[in-house]
Amino acid sequence: MLKKNIILTGFMGTGKSTLGRLLAEQLDYDFIDTDNLIEARIGQSIAELFKEQGEAAFRKLEENLVQELALQQGLVISTGGGLVLNPKNVDVFKQSGQIICLTATPVEILERVSAQQHTRPLLQEKDPLSKIKELLAQRSPVYSQFQQLSTSGKAPQELITRLRELTCES
Ligand code: S3P
Repeated sequence: MLKKNIILTGFMGTGKSTLGRLLAEQLDYDFIDTDNLIEARIGQSIAELFKEQGEAAFRKLEENLVQELALQQGLVISTGGGLVLNPKNVDVFKQSGQIICLTATPVEILERVSAQQHTRPLLQEKDPLSKIKELLAQRSPVYSQFQQLSTSGKAPQELITRLRELTCES
């Protein structure tokens, strides 16, 4: 049976990796976190890559990975928060499965990322909450094209049930 990919996107700290891993487990799909896979392959953290080669080098690796993953089936893929800003990535992923965008309030995003804020090069700011709001405003036209699921104040299992309904994989 064809198992279309399920792609979870959305801003940093919206729960993509946590929920993606759980969803994959429950559906018996393979789980891919694009950031983790890129880091494993280059043997370097994304923060280091940004510092040494710049954001454009990272975005190119993301684009190559999207092409590769879209050829596979039965994957739950959690994307880095900026991956869908490249319309090519969106087109390719749309053909391989269903894209769902997770959302959360800026305050909740900050709470979730603050423990590992250093791993997010785009949030290395004196006032990360303002930066989060600014990036969310910039990106909202892109994120809003996808089906949305708010993760603020909700328990993981409740969200997994909702994701299974949205993807008709209940
Ligand atoms: C980014 C989000 C990060 C990571 C990189 C850039 C972004 O992933 O890909 O730091 O542009 O929003 P997470 O959304 O998994 O934190």
